[in-house]
Amino acid sequence: MSKLVNAVKWGPDSWRDKPILQVPDYPDAKALADVEAQLATFPPLVFAGEARNLKVALAKVAAGQAFLLQGGDCAESFAEHGANNIRDFFRVFLQMAVVLTYAAACPVVKVGRIAGQFAKPRTSPTEKRNGVELPVYRGDIINGTDFTPEARTPEPRRQLEAYRQSAATLNLLRAFAKGGYASLDNVHRWMLESVRGSPQSKRYGDLADRVSGALDFMRACGLTFAADSSLGTTDFYTSHEALLLGYEQAFTRVDSTTGDWYCTSGHMVWIGDRTRQPDHAHVEYCRGIKNPLGLKTGPTQKPDELLKLIDILDPDNEPGRLTLICRVGADKVADLLPAMVRAVKREGRNVVWSCDPMHGNTITSVTGYKTRPFDQILKEVRGFFQVCAAEGVYPGGVHLEMTGKDVTECTGGARAISDEDLNDRYHTVCDPRLNAEQSIDLSFLLADLLKSKREGTMTPLPAVAGL
Ligand code: TRP
Ligand code: MN
Repeated sequence: MSKLVNAVKWGPDSWRDKPILQVPDYPDAKALADVEAQLATFPPLVFAGEARNLKVALAKVAAGQAFLLQGGDCAESFAEHGANNIRDFFRVFLQMAVVLTYAAACPVVKVGRIAGQFAKPRTSPTEKRNGVELPVYRGDIINGTDFTPEARTPEPRRQLEAYRQSAATLNLLRAFAKGGYASLDNVHRWMLESVRGSPQSKRYGDLADRVSGALDFMRACGLTFAADSSLGTTDFYTSHEALLLGYEQAFTRVDSTTGDWYCTSGHMVWIGDRTRQPDHAHVEYCRGIKNPLGLKTGPTQKPDELLKLIDILDPDNEPGRLTLICRVGADKVADLLPAMVRAVKREGRNVVWSCDPMHGNTITSVTGYKTRPFDQILKEVRGFFQVCAAEGVYPGGVHLEMTGKDVTECTGGARAISDEDLNDRYHTVCDPRLNAEQSIDLSFLLADLLKSKREGTMTPLPAVAGL
């Protein structure tokens, strides 16, 4: 079957002949085509060589020698595009990475959900308020959040704005990663004001002291922190859901070194849980690009269907090519994950197993907010590690919705955000994100889990039931 599918000729536009879900209804086809033609002339955001480097790094994850940290906003927004936001996100991300690198002694592959994460799949194509029905908000790259016909009508020129914002964001991230900000010398400076005084900051401060102590020792031994050294810089990659395929097609370019097609709007792209039908457009598009791919697998994913998708997306069983991002929910992980893991393992498939503990744990609070209880998020992560240990596969990474801002969107955590508190600083335009404190808290849990996995002290599977 897969041989047949993959034998069919692929092109950057071959997805257009397939059934497709989650497409916006653009009223002006000509305006859309004009924008897509213009985007196709713009410089790529990333290079094929960088995407290949990420694949090599992910191959190490697949082999159990590194850990994938992937995270960022559910949806980036035009309104929140500012240097401080990007910096604060990056600081928290670096803090999490250093916690994992130091406490778990495990190299971390750093992938942001950023610089292109604008388009959102939605449950319903329209939204009704007080008897008025309008198109649903699908992300800033497509339409606006205001509940007016003007804002909700898909506007192609928003794609130009999303490109501009992605380029500016990536430019700043590259400067941070390579220009000195991410140097381990700065391990104390990454701590955010908003987090100071919390139990996490104390724990982080202690860890940062130990890191600086080790660095002082190495410096005394003659080691330097040149801007080109591995201590002075880091590799940071970008990723987003490849949902708006017209936009992605415009950035699909041939790599002159290899002659292969790459999606150059980000280093890694993923297929969402709602658009992973094997014979549909999103799978068709992704099978032909050489970037590392993510595939979200939710509770309705059947193991045999999963194998079919792996055949299509990774026919050569190439390590680092495919990351399976499981998002089944804290209460289902022990039931649903083992069958998936077993099927993939039985077929000898080289994938990265990553856990998205966010999307299966979304509820509506009594105060009417879409939220996620922090305890459930931790529970899914723990369950994921336990299932992986029991099934003999490596728990390779996590995929998080998080921000550097001091928001109140997920309940619980050390400051015990309650349903009533959600109203304080609920800023997300889409799904609730972990705030800085909750993110760092989670990284310590991950470090503990990775350490106990290495030391072979992981709690065996039956304990999951009583979690
Ligand atoms: N280059 C190494 C790495 O990326 C060490 C490093 C430099 C680092 N800056 C960092 C690790 C910031 C974590 C966070 O792993
Ligand atoms: Mn989301």
